[in-house]
Amino acid sequence: MVTSPKVVLITGCSKGGIGFSLCEEFASQGCKVYATARKLESMEGFAHENIEQLKLDVTSDEDVHEVISTVIEREGRIDVVVNNAGAACMGPLIDISMDDIRRTYETNTFSIIRMAKAIIPYMAARKSGTIVNIGSVVGETPTPWSGVYASTKSAWSSSVRAL
Ligand SMILES: NC(=O)c1ccc[n+]([C@@H]2O[C@H](COP(=O)([O-])OP(=O)(O)OC[C@H]3O[C@@H](n4cnc5c(N)ncnc54)[C@H](OP(=O)(O)O)[C@@H]3O)[C@@H](O)[C@H]2O)c1
Repeated sequence: MVTSPKVVLITGCSKGGIGFSLCEEFASQGCKVYATARKLESMEGFAHENIEQLKLDVTSDEDVHEVISTVIEREGRIDVVVNNAGAACMGPLIDISMDDIRRTYETNTFSIIRMAKAIIPYMAARKSGTIVNIGSVVGETPTPWSGVYASTKSAWSSSVRAL
């Protein structure tokens, strides 16, 4: 039986990071990969040709809905979403501005909830789909000065565990 390749959407795929390498790995396993990042030029240099590139800022409702619609229009489905995009926020709490804390929650926590709300209706209709969220060990065991970042990683975990 011939099966069609899995369609995989990955966030935060700038060159040099985990997302970029995940794209290459999924593509080398025969998947059709949609690599996304805030800037298309940050994803230059994929070796594998089965990787399409789309612009996606995970803090934008509009971008998330547009990218999901584009991939579904082209492929008919999304089998796997990897929420990889993330922002660091390290240092003593009293030195970190509320704007930076909000930005980190937008990128690391609300983005995952936003993506879940947007993609689950499609996956539920097909009764098929996998969402992979990239956490961090500090989400379980915070280290000194990692409090804000660590809390963003443990917060999404609770939010999507009990959908
Ligand atoms: N590296 C580690 O040791 C480690 C350990 C534990 C967990 N993690 C997690 O693993 C994931 C990948 O980390 P990494 O080490 O590969 O870091 P990285 O190289 O900094 O990659 C983070 C990616 O997220 C993107 N990003 C940031 N804000 C975004 C936004 N608003 N919309 C879309 N993309 C955005 C970045 O894009 P720009 O290039 O545009 O900034 C970049 O592509 C993150 O979730 C991180 O928290 C990493």
